[in-house]
Amino acid sequence: MTTFKIGNISVYDDNIIDMNIIKNIIQDNNQEDAFYILDVESIVRQHQKWCSAMPKVSPHYAIKCNPDQTVIEVLASLNSKFDCASKQEMQQLIQSGVSSDRIIYSHPAKPHSHIKYAKNIGVKTIMIDNTLEVLKLKEIYPDAKLVIRLSIDSGSYGIDMSKKFGCEITTEIITLMNFIKKEKMFLQGFSFHLGSPCLDSNAFNRGIEICKNLINTARDMGFDEVNLIDIGGGIPGNDDNLFYKIAKAVNKALENLDPSIEVISEPGRYYVDSAFTLVTYIQSKRIIVDGEIMKKCYYINDGIFGSFLDKFMAAPLRVPIPLCNNGGELFKSKIWGPTCHPDDCVIDDIMIQDLSIGDWIVWQNMGSYTLCTASSFNGFPPPAVYPIIRKTGLKTLINGINGVRKLKLIDNYGKEEILEKIKEKNPFITHEILKLIE
Ligand SMILES: Cc1ncc(COP(=O)(O)O)c(C=O)c1O
Repeated sequence: MTTFKIGNISVYDDNIIDMNIIKNIIQDNNQEDAFYILDVESIVRQHQKWCSAMPKVSPHYAIKCNPDQTVIEVLASLNSKFDCASKQEMQQLIQSGVSSDRIIYSHPAKPHSHIKYAKNIGVKTIMIDNTLEVLKLKEIYPDAKLVIRLSIDSGSYGIDMSKKFGCEITTEIITLMNFIKKEKMFLQGFSFHLGSPCLDSNAFNRGIEICKNLINTARDMGFDEVNLIDIGGGIPGNDDNLFYKIAKAVNKALENLDPSIEVISEPGRYYVDSAFTLVTYIQSKRIIVDGEIMKKCYYINDGIFGSFLDKFMAAPLRVPIPLCNNGGELFKSKIWGPTCHPDDCVIDDIMIQDLSIGDWIVWQNMGSYTLCTASSFNGFPPPAVYPIIRKTGLKTLINGINGVRKLKLIDNYGKEEILEKIKEKNPFITHEILKLIE
């Protein structure tokens, strides 16, 4: 069924549906372990959608959300920018060929060695939220460009991102700005994170207004260089209506923005939520009686200590989909993870058709805060990822890759030379792709 592979990405015909791709992977690999398919086209489309819906806001993918190497390489090839929380994340990007001017370091509480690393590679934009962090940076990295992380929460459903970090917009922010001035450090701008996910589009409006006012205040205080608003992350990845509502609110808030001010964001879940589909195997089954009612219990090979830890992090309710849907009668069921821990329950009291040991269950929208938090507890390793793309998606990807179109126009190159040039920019490019884009 696979037509060809580009690096680790399998390319399929347009008419092949996910469920058949999954069956193909199970069969080809004699698969028993849980695994993901990563639909690369979904990442490309999310990027394009963002760029056209919010052209004034430059997205920096928050790689903490899912540092999968294919995601990084695809976004890097589309010339995206990135948000990091640590030295390891910065290293991964540098090793993937991302230049340091496309990276921001947005963790407000940083280890010394990570700051030194940022300095060595030239990552300049760094978040802080208090005076002691300013002093630490002054000592290690006096040329850093400081962005003050503000404490603004949308109050809507999701994780409150201001519980741990953020300078209060009271006298605290004025004290902090005065301190930065006294220490002769560079103040670049202000950032916030409204909650993950943030379901209140107007909260972005409010956050941007606060930043605009603070920029005016900072300029009045003599920070002539201040020119950045960072609207953080929190944008959901699988709700187009909400995405466009947020885009509308953000665009409105930026309508009359002073053109000297740059606006950036740190979306994580937006990029990867719907691109990853998890596939789990039923390794055991047990039937219990709960009160008067019979309940079917299934034990699958991924759980709370693997991909489902986000059950405790405001994750949406997961919906199990049997890979082979027989449309049969539904029974009250419970799905357990694979470990011996009694809290390793993925979902309880759901109605699902009768399944057998050896059947597979599919879980959609599993891209954010799943793989990155998975452990090997009890000896069950995190699932492998199989990246896939369909031919039309591949063309979209290739067309989006910076440099390809330009190189195609240079007709005094021979085909081999063009291939080599393109390959330098992007390791995915092969003869097969060249044939597709001819
Ligand atoms: C500083 C920062 N930026 C961005 C993100 C990404 O948030 P989300 O995945 O909700 O877009 C996070 C998430 O923890 C974060 O801490």
